[in-house]
Amino acid sequence: MVKVAVVGATGYTGQDLIRILAVHPQVELTLLTSRQNQGVIYGHLFPAFRNLVEQRLSQLDYDQVAQKAEVAFLAFPHTESQPVAAELIPRKVKVIDLSADFRFRKAGIYRRYYAEHQFPALLRKAVYGLPEVYREQIKKAQLIANPGCFPISVILALKPLMEKRLIEPRGIIIDSKSGLTGAGRNAVVDFLFCEISGSVRPYNVYKHRHRPEMEQELTRLYGRKAEVTFVPHLVPINRGILSTIYVRFLRKTEPARLEALYREAYGQERFVRVLNLGELPDTSQVKGSNYCDLGLSLSPDGKEAVISSALDNLVKGASGNAVQNMNLMFGLEEDAGLRQVPLHP
Ligand SMILES: NC(=O)c1ccc[n+]([C@@H]2O[C@H](COP(=O)([O-])OP(=O)(O)OC[C@H]3O[C@@H](n4cnc5c(N)ncnc54)[C@H](OP(=O)(O)O)[C@@H]3O)[C@@H](O)[C@H]2O)c1
Repeated sequence: MVKVAVVGATGYTGQDLIRILAVHPQVELTLLTSRQNQGVIYGHLFPAFRNLVEQRLSQLDYDQVAQKAEVAFLAFPHTESQPVAAELIPRKVKVIDLSADFRFRKAGIYRRYYAEHQFPALLRKAVYGLPEVYREQIKKAQLIANPGCFPISVILALKPLMEKRLIEPRGIIIDSKSGLTGAGRNAVVDFLFCEISGSVRPYNVYKHRHRPEMEQELTRLYGRKAEVTFVPHLVPINRGILSTIYVRFLRKTEPARLEALYREAYGQERFVRVLNLGELPDTSQVKGSNYCDLGLSLSPDGKEAVISSALDNLVKGASGNAVQNMNLMFGLEEDAGLRQVPLHP
């Protein structure tokens, strides 16, 4: 059994980590931390977990984490994970961080979009935790930077085209829709029911922090600078991301070739489902699961395509992907604890 701590167990990703880990056949949940609810039994705080998770939340004590756990998931806001990772790594605890704190290879990009990095040396230690791209590196890593939810939907959608350099790497247009849990469990006026229900709106156009993360990874896949225009939208659903991505081919492409390319890239992947040509993904078909569904649409002249990508922001977009990383780091079956059928309808 792998002994696991969840640091920041009360947020949305923390709750989904515990939902998955509590029934993972090779995991023992040994420590759950909270600042605001120390001493409270988890199943009392969140009645969905009643009789399932009866542990008490405790304060974060680095020595205690090291005594009780081999791996710690950090489900903190960005900047807050950095000191925790810096304390746990010398204590030989493996760290899987769900925040953006270790996702960038360059501290300068983190500074520009987030804040001054307090432990830039750790950026070199971190592996970008997307198993479908960095599986071998993840197996050996001590520090995993679990990717952002929008970037996962986009990188998985574009990987086959970028690796083979079939499309123009600049001018990629990404239109994404996200459910409200993507913003975390905070009391914010903009996210009140009356502000959100019955409405769809774009936000952070040209300013969203996930754009440089997407560009970093797409550039690596392509081997030349990739540039995207990314427009996220808030939609009145709890969970789910749908990204609609517009690309231009360098040479005319046939539908069968496009489909074959994706089938070849993802045929062995457990969590990427390539739909048949003409089928389109739907967030309700992946909800609660670790799947990312991809839909392929080619223009009649074969010069451009729309790739559609759907995932659950809290599962493949965060906690499920993080558990997939843990499975790889500990030599477990990659889908252990992650065989949930989506919650449709
Ligand atoms: N939500 C998503 O869809 C999603 C997807 C991918 C990645 N992420 C990333 O995963 C991390 C966690 O996201 P989340 O949505 O679970 O956030 P959240 O719902 O806001 O929860 C964060 C938790 O961290 C704890 N915490 C510790 N220090 C804190 C501080 N200084 N300020 C606020 N909270 C603090 C809080 O619990 P206590 O008060 O009990 O300590 C809080 O419940 C974030 O970095 C986020 O960007 C989120």
